[in-house]
Amino acid sequence: MITKFSYGTPVETFAVVKDFPSAGHEQLRHFSRKKGTVQYFTCMLGEEDIVYGLGETMRGVNKRGGRYISFNYDDPHHKDDMPSMYGAHNFLIVDGEEPFGAFFDTPSKVVFDIDSKGSGVLSVACETQDLRLYIIEGETPYGIVKQFLGIIGRSFLPPLWAFGYGQSRWGYKTERDISRVAAKHEEAGIPLDYICMDIDYMDRYIDFTVNKRRFPNMAGFSAKLKGKGLHLVPIVDAGIKIEPGNPVYSEGVEKEYFCKNHEGTFFKAEVWPGMTHFPDFFQEKVRRWFGDQYKFYTDSGLEGFWNDMNEPAIFSTEYRAKDTKPDVGRGDVDQPERHIADFKDFFHRLDDGREKSNYEVHNLYGALMTRASGEGLGRLLDRRYLLFSRSSYIGAHRYGGIWTGDNASTWEMLRQNVYHMPSLNMCGFLYSGADTGGFGGNCDRELLLRWLAVSVFTPLMRNHTAIFTRNQECYRFRKVEDFRTVVSLRYRLLPYLYSEFMKAALRQDMLIRPLAFDYPGDEKARHIHDQLMVGESVMIAPVLEKGVKGRVVYLPEPMTEVRWSSEGFTCIEVGAGERTVMAPLHQVVFYIRKGKLVPVGKQVSNTSELDLMDVELLGTGTEYEQYADDGYTKDCGLNRCVLRRKA
Ligand code: NOJ
Repeated sequence: MITKFSYGTPVETFAVVKDFPSAGHEQLRHFSRKKGTVQYFTCMLGEEDIVYGLGETMRGVNKRGGRYISFNYDDPHHKDDMPSMYGAHNFLIVDGEEPFGAFFDTPSKVVFDIDSKGSGVLSVACETQDLRLYIIEGETPYGIVKQFLGIIGRSFLPPLWAFGYGQSRWGYKTERDISRVAAKHEEAGIPLDYICMDIDYMDRYIDFTVNKRRFPNMAGFSAKLKGKGLHLVPIVDAGIKIEPGNPVYSEGVEKEYFCKNHEGTFFKAEVWPGMTHFPDFFQEKVRRWFGDQYKFYTDSGLEGFWNDMNEPAIFSTEYRAKDTKPDVGRGDVDQPERHIADFKDFFHRLDDGREKSNYEVHNLYGALMTRASGEGLGRLLDRRYLLFSRSSYIGAHRYGGIWTGDNASTWEMLRQNVYHMPSLNMCGFLYSGADTGGFGGNCDRELLLRWLAVSVFTPLMRNHTAIFTRNQECYRFRKVEDFRTVVSLRYRLLPYLYSEFMKAALRQDMLIRPLAFDYPGDEKARHIHDQLMVGESVMIAPVLEKGVKGRVVYLPEPMTEVRWSSEGFTCIEVGAGERTVMAPLHQVVFYIRKGKLVPVGKQVSNTSELDLMDVELLGTGTEYEQYADDGYTKDCGLNRCVLRRKA
């Protein structure tokens, strides 16, 4: 059961697509509410309650014990206790005696204190008088999440190639650099579907331009790569460089599509290209205009994009000089004050006629950029597109996926990737993943192999790293055959992973879940968060520690233990309970639930060679409902068939 409460005059966030009448305030029984400068909601947690949700936030899957601030922010120093990341996903689920979910639908800053002081109090402080609150009651956390996914609309559907392996690095500069990445993967026998182009493909980091010296013929280059089954995925940043003569800039100025400051002139913020203006994505006509600009790329045959710097990230402004001493990344500082002032300095004109400072509606900015691009690509392309964004708000999942930003090459960040996946799924972001191998710092062979073994199971599987870090492509490491083995597993599993993603998306369900969602009542499963369910048949228990040869795995029921190596799959039946499992670096171990099947396909070098229906079946089940299609047609219904094990 879903009950909606409205306070003040909420800003239209486009998160919820279903219409509900608002209930009377006196009907709110899960929280007590205090109104002051903030709207303050509190409730008491039971001793054993677990709190799920909050999408892209740090700590574990159980949010209890932490403080989280929804205020989208670019802080590359990811740490367990950092309060804000790039997205605002204000949906939480209290798993107690009477489980319930709560979605605080406001683009303003929200502070969640989930029993951080150990007193059992959960408090939510919304820095606005205008919000909608949705309370969802249900029997189980999973049932509550499904109801929530039902009201926020269907996940975006990427093309099949977006489920292949992607290689990225901030620092690929030229056509030659990218051709070399393609050739090296081919030479090493490592499957690959796309290569990302970071800001260096542009002319002086200006959106909707290409550096002609580095990429003399983008259309020809893209066609040549497509001939080999590879796609190019360029980055697009939020700010438009102030440069008279640049048609996008000039049109934006002429039509007043950019955000203005308190003096009524266009706000100036420094990002990669120098001083920029920010498009006012809150206006429908600006979104349409911005989305149409992607024609610049689609005309060159490009069909995949990553949107960046859209919190928005700001280096300096006309009022604030660049920092010499960054104060980001300190757990004790909620938001660096210097940036708060920036966000209060520019304004959005909402389609309902109101004007709001960015600070007041901050968390929607990146999501509306995603919406602008997604809708634009929807108009420009006759097929599905790939899009993932750094900043997000619930609702953006209908237009694109997300990646979890500037993590680092550490074991802690690998573990965080595992924790993020189910929480993001609870908030609708099925197409997501982390920078495999880590963005900051230097990745080593062991960490990359273990990280790839996790990314095999996340919809976005992209190796990305920062400029000046150690080269992180698989072929840079010794014994490249081990990398080939691990990445190849992704392709063998694609008939299953694609099918499960599409079924979850089309049915508005989760793809990746905590064990507790599939085994309610299993007290041990309830507290295990470093193992995950992936689709209806698979459980993973990845190795997340340095220097170990295996790990302890908990099986809530008897399962098939599948060991993947260069020799192929070997399966054994194992009983319920705890087991110590050896998992050498060149093997990947995963589990198939009792009575379930996993279709595995043939080995291919990219998805253009893949036949989703040419499969063998692993596991003990007798039937599997497989979704398959051509991988690019837009309006997919549920194209499924039932695979039956031969007697
Ligand atoms: C920040 C992004 O998070 C990162 O992935 C990218 O490489 C850099 N910007 C440079 O564009």
